[in-house]
Amino acid sequence: MPDTSQDNPRRAAITGVATYVPDRIVTNAELARTLDTSDDWIVTRTGIRERRRGGPGETTSTMGAEAVRRLMAAKGLAPDQVDVLIVATVTPDMFFPATACLIQDQVGLQSTWGFDLSAACSGFLYALTTGAQFVASGVHRRVIVVGADLMSAIIDPLDRTTAVLFGDGAGAVLLEPAEPGFGILDFLHRVDGSGRNDLFMPAGGSLKPPSVETVVAREHFLKQNGRTVFKFAVSQMAESVERLIDRNGLKASDLAVVIPHQANQRILDATADRLGLAHDRMASVIGRYGNTTAATLPLALDDLVRAGKLERGDLAVFVAVGAGFTVGATLMRWG
Ligand SMILES: CC(C)(COP(=O)(O)OP(=O)(O)OC[C@H]1O[C@@H](n2cnc3c(N)ncnc32)[C@H](O)[C@@H]1OP(=O)(O)O)[C@@H](O)C(=O)NCCC(=O)NCCS
Repeated sequence: MPDTSQDNPRRAAITGVATYVPDRIVTNAELARTLDTSDDWIVTRTGIRERRRGGPGETTSTMGAEAVRRLMAAKGLAPDQVDVLIVATVTPDMFFPATACLIQDQVGLQSTWGFDLSAACSGFLYALTTGAQFVASGVHRRVIVVGADLMSAIIDPLDRTTAVLFGDGAGAVLLEPAEPGFGILDFLHRVDGSGRNDLFMPAGGSLKPPSVETVVAREHFLKQNGRTVFKFAVSQMAESVERLIDRNGLKASDLAVVIPHQANQRILDATADRLGLAHDRMASVIGRYGNTTAATLPLALDDLVRAGKLERGDLAVFVAVGAGFTVGATLMRWG
């Protein structure tokens, strides 16, 4: 049923969140046993203390499916009550079929359609914006948005510049019609493909299909130009939040919290400084999970909700920068 409230245009709200992370914890000290690195370097340069790694049989779809099961249990949703399932990931179980199909099958969703969406670390926000349009248009009432990545599948265990940064995890949120004045109020996105060679996986696609040469050259692993990505992230995170709140007549001090993509604690601190916010107003779970790509934002949101740090009526902004480059920011009133 379309929302017929006076508060038009219709809006979507996040009405539930659930997450899943694998049990296995990999500490910095464990990585330092096989890589030329140290707990001190990793903590000082990134804020990461540990991350999760999937065990045997764990994939992006199994993690995403568990997050969806937990979300549905928490919301009391039956298998035929989900209209759309959108999965943001850069580590699909396979190129095709889509991970959304695999999750639908594992969870037994009976009347869902869905698809995958690729926007790397901004993927969750792209999926959130996409899902929100279905609710806002009145076409669908319940949309589940999943951010899930098994980054250990594409991380080069011999590359200390990337192996220490990433972890595995999944999160899912439910979008439903918002009460008047609540929910997703505005969003902005941007792509800048000039960053395509700063964070990418060189081989395995149509440009460089898999071959003995690509395997020997370790081209099926993620490559990153860390300093360039760092600079882009710091400038874009702050600028995106500022543009979004400016055009809604808000100041940073009006925000209860900023929920940023979790790539590096130094990026979060620098963004807070540029916005003139205390560092503790930036949600942070990076110390526990590292960078889980599409899963960082639902993991950070779940942490805030569980800790009782988001109250009804609070204004919050999600913000993310990812490979591509991709950029996203979302303004919402929680409730
Ligand atoms: C990757 C990142 C942590 C590196 O931190 P940095 O301060 O920029 O470090 P640099 O890349 O300048 O490297 C500094 C030195 O540390 C070394 N180093 C890199 N990784 C290391 C590690 N794990 N342990 C020890 N030393 C390491 C480098 O080799 C370099 O040594 P050199 O000076 O002898 O060449 C940082 O650039 C970053 O977070 N970038 C953005 C990542 C990101 O956001 N990615 C996802 C976007 S969605």
